[in-house]
Amino acid sequence: MNTRNPEESKPVIAILTTSDKQHQFGGNRKNFRDIIRTGKEMGYLVYVVTVRDLKLEERLINGYVPSPGGRLWYSIPVPLPQVIYNRIPTREQEQRLPVARKIAECLEHPEIHLYNPYFFNKWNLFEWLKGAHSTSKHVPKTRRLRTAATLTAMLKNHDSLYLKPESGKAGKGIMRLKYREDTALPYRLQIQSGRRNVTYKAASMDRLWARVEKEKGAAHYIVQQAIVLATHHKRPFDLRVLVQKNGRGGWAITGIGARLAGARSITTHVPRGGSIEEPSSMLESTFGAERAAAILKSLPTTALLIARQIERASELTLGEMSMDLGVDDNGGLWFFEANARPMKFDEPAIRKLSLERIFHYSQHLARMPKHNK
Ligand SMILES: Nc1ncnc2c1ncn2[C@@H]1O[C@H](COP(=O)(O)OP(=O)(O)O)[C@@H](O)[C@H]1O
Ligand SMILES: [Mg+2]
Repeated sequence: MNTRNPEESKPVIAILTTSDKQHQFGGNRKNFRDIIRTGKEMGYLVYVVTVRDLKLEERLINGYVPSPGGRLWYSIPVPLPQVIYNRIPTREQEQRLPVARKIAECLEHPEIHLYNPYFFNKWNLFEWLKGAHSTSKHVPKTRRLRTAATLTAMLKNHDSLYLKPESGKAGKGIMRLKYREDTALPYRLQIQSGRRNVTYKAASMDRLWARVEKEKGAAHYIVQQAIVLATHHKRPFDLRVLVQKNGRGGWAITGIGARLAGARSITTHVPRGGSIEEPSSMLESTFGAERAAAILKSLPTTALLIARQIERASELTLGEMSMDLGVDDNGGLWFFEANARPMKFDEPAIRKLSLERIFHYSQHLARMPKHNK
């Protein structure tokens, strides 16, 4: 089974982040520590590097490694990496000119491999997945939200809609709109703020649209058909799938978790009262043991089709992504979003394999010649 050459040299791997005036560098230091510890155990040289310190024309650059106790980070001279694991923390930083330039330089570099160059945009994801027969059936009806007319049109076919920022995360800015006929205030907009939900009721589309515009500000939004999710004790849940490339460069499922919505929450995020659950027990409460097992069995195939289509349509080199999938009352699977900088999974078995796969895939990448156009 072991196809690896024991003599094969191991690539040097850098975790890329931004610099930070007070703390040397930005990003999740605990995550970086875990990655470096795993890499070291597997025999790799791995360090954190900032965009500023990654000087591609130098032989030795400045890298950060944790002290043995893990509390401090030492700056040490290190060789340039062969593989870069991109952990630029935010979209805002990714778009700053020095960061965007450095990423472009890495992508053009004849030897250095950088994967997952950019965060995903929600609208792009839906366009990409609509474009293939194998994935289009898992995509809720979605449009860009520019005018009230889009809401009116979408409400003709769906009585409940989700409004989401194209660049959102962790549930920030998400709203849900319902239309209830035969009431004086038929439009109901639920606005998620912190752990609470505010409901705004409006008599007309004009009034509603004024409030939507106020909430979304300058952000770009999509509007999407609301899927009626399967529930556990009356609360909706969804599935979080971590998909990564393995040592052969093929997509593989690292793990599947479930997130149960907090009481009265319109999303399942843990900071908004959601909880981490076992996928099989969530599915069993709606579908019974046998159908739950069948749904879980079909899930990897769907998640892998989605990952491949995102990679193909985006024309980017990708090595990992997490996905939020919903399950409807009939056991149908629905794609909500994919994240190009997966947050860490707290389930220990998933966490362990996810760290190891970063190195398996890096080893594979380092073996591949870089095909430059
Ligand atoms: N179209 C939808 N139908 C039903 N639930 C949805 C829909 N879109 C989002 N949700 C719920 O809201 C959560 C957050 O949506 P998501 O698109 O993942 O935004 P974020 O980037 O903020 O995590 C999902 O995990 C799901 O529980
Ligand atoms: Mg999400």
